[in-house]
Amino acid sequence: MARITAGVATSHVPLIGRAIDTGDTQSEYWKPLFDGYEFTRKWIAAEKPDVVFLVFNDHASAFDLKLIPTFAIGTGETFKPADEGFGPRAVPDVKGAPDLAWHIAQSVIQDDFDLTIVNEMDVDHGLTVPLSLMFGQPDAWPCRVIPFAVNVVVYPVPNGRRCYNLGRAIARAVEKFDEDLNVQIWGTGGMSHQLQGPRAGLINQTWDKSFLDRLADAPEELADIPHIEYIREAGSEGIELVMWLVMRGALGDKVKELHRHYHVPASNTAVGHIILENQR
Ligand code: DHB
Ligand code: FE
Repeated sequence: MARITAGVATSHVPLIGRAIDTGDTQSEYWKPLFDGYEFTRKWIAAEKPDVVFLVFNDHASAFDLKLIPTFAIGTGETFKPADEGFGPRAVPDVKGAPDLAWHIAQSVIQDDFDLTIVNEMDVDHGLTVPLSLMFGQPDAWPCRVIPFAVNVVVYPVPNGRRCYNLGRAIARAVEKFDEDLNVQIWGTGGMSHQLQGPRAGLINQTWDKSFLDRLADAPEELADIPHIEYIREAGSEGIELVMWLVMRGALGDKVKELHRHYHVPASNTAVGHIILENQR
């Protein structure tokens, strides 16, 4: 059977992608950020996931005001890097896992969560920057990826509790898939940042660190955080952290924290990164 072996969370700042693409990862500004991913790169090379279920948000690249799916699952064979205004990043196309993705759609929709099924979608920095952080610059990504987009851009957005419960439904689906697959679930975005308005540049290290502290062993507390607290404490884009709760919900009650990294500054964002191993 397929099994979810681990969850990975990371911020997904576009400028990190630019630093990788232009070979700038060892500069004074970027080195401390990338050093925090060294452990992960070695760990994941040994873990060799078959499929990554990658929870991210689209930033008006694939979707715009014409169509705003709350939860969208990528069921296609391939997904191309999106053009976000400067041309698509020169990274490999993403190979999907349509059989597993359709199975998850079937199971999760029957399990009370409405998903939008997307066969064609370009994937933006929300998805490609985490892949680059974990895998560097290969000719092809070393695993298949199911893109799973959550709307955190246009209100109303789903609350943390719903995202957490959705993660549980995703886990129930994966565990019923009759193929021996090592599946990881990743949650991207966050941590505190605000890209707009009078509070642009807001970072809240105390609040972020408390979120990281509770992710492994007190996720129920995090699931109860209301939207207004994310906005007040973590900035308007801090709401991206609800996607970490999809990841956490898909893991069991008992997890082991293998690695943690927190770094400020990276562009306008406080970067957080954590690996949680599923214990069973
Ligand atoms: C930045 C961070 C994001 O999460 C994003 O989607 C866009 C920009 C930033 O810090 O610049
Ligand atoms: Fe973002």
